[in-house]
Amino acid sequence: MSTEELAGRRAQLIRAIGVDGIAIVPAAVERVRNRDVHYPFRQDSDFQYLTGFPEPEAVAVFAPGHSEGEFMLFCRPRDREREIWDGYRQGPEGAIENYGADAAQVIGDLDSRILELLGSRKRVYYNLGPNPELDRRLIGWLGQLRAMSRRGLAAPEAVVSLDSVLHEMRLRKSPVEIELMRHAAQVSAAAHVRAMQTCRPGRFEFELAAEIHNDFERHGMVPAYGSIVGGGANGCVLHYTENRDELRDGTLCLIDAGGEHQGYCADITRTFPVGGRFSGEQRAVYDLVLSAQEAAIAELQVGKPWDAPHRTAVRVLTQGLKDLGVLQGDVDALIEDEKYTAFYMHQTGHWLGMDVHDVGAYKLEGQWRRFEAGMVLTVEPGLYFSAQTPGVPARFADMGIRIEDDVAVTAAMPDVLTRDVPKQAAEIEALMAA
Ligand code: GLY
Ligand code: MN
Ligand code: MN
Repeated sequence: MSTEELAGRRAQLIRAIGVDGIAIVPAAVERVRNRDVHYPFRQDSDFQYLTGFPEPEAVAVFAPGHSEGEFMLFCRPRDREREIWDGYRQGPEGAIENYGADAAQVIGDLDSRILELLGSRKRVYYNLGPNPELDRRLIGWLGQLRAMSRRGLAAPEAVVSLDSVLHEMRLRKSPVEIELMRHAAQVSAAAHVRAMQTCRPGRFEFELAAEIHNDFERHGMVPAYGSIVGGGANGCVLHYTENRDELRDGTLCLIDAGGEHQGYCADITRTFPVGGRFSGEQRAVYDLVLSAQEAAIAELQVGKPWDAPHRTAVRVLTQGLKDLGVLQGDVDALIEDEKYTAFYMHQTGHWLGMDVHDVGAYKLEGQWRRFEAGMVLTVEPGLYFSAQTPGVPARFADMGIRIEDDVAVTAAMPDVLTRDVPKQAAEIEALMAA
């Protein structure tokens, strides 16, 4: 991310919190996988968005109007011994030179420095919860300040969630962010195409996951979330990530996988026949889900409310379930009674960005918020006919179908970032036959 874009975000945050406020944003904490092995480090999205600083054990403090500078970074010191084992560290010098901090100190100085910074502010912007250790330290600092009132220092009156400011900023993507997401989407789309092309009856789900991850890694990307490759009944398990079974002829394969590029995610689902040709029943259900998805995407227009795509998808699916003989009765009554939830139990999408289920409020003052240009979301209706679900006709048993694209709202037509993966049944069959 360019230093200008990062500086612009910080300036916007500093304006929003005002001279009475101060914001504290910690880096992600390293997590142990087992014994002395860690999970791959993934920077916290809020911290990354504001600083671009890649290391753990760091805290950014934003103090509007402060005489030493408004952006302070506390980070690990340079350490020749540790750097031999774990790699280069920026140190406070690098934080200033390479990341635009106005001032920087080693992380061990945070406790001694923070009281002076907090003591002159009315509000602390901080997200309680994700970092319990820092939560406890913050409570301790506030307690210390209360005890120091005779020295003229006062504790801030309020701890305010950063979400209201920062997550509103993250919700609206800049042109640079949209292009990063487009790249994540294009690489992920090519990976799905490759999985379809290399799918054969008798291959295993993990082999297709490997094809996809190979494509991500060749582009310097990592999976944005646990990839789902589910054949047959496994396609009906919404969070199936074991990916261990053999793919059988005559069944469908559902793949939900997306890569992360420079901290920005793609999230794509396609469903295709393992043997390369849809059966009549599979095609009927597939075309229904596709028509629901296309109708939902058409709702992504500036000014329409968040729930418009979901309502449209539900209507198309419910009418289709009736036409297929799965549901009986009046369509309005079936929707009112939520009869479709036996087969369509999740929402039609979510915000997408640095987090797969990205930040940003869905409602404002109790009302669904309205789409604006620059918002990016998924559109992902599905139908899940598990043989275990009462009312599933035998001819549809164990079909799980979801079709998911990533879409940017624009002033004109919705911009489908993931359009490079085919989704028309005939296109998929042609691709798999080639
Ligand atoms: N892959 C997570 C989701 O579709 O929401
Ligand atoms: Mn999704
Ligand atoms: Mn998904």
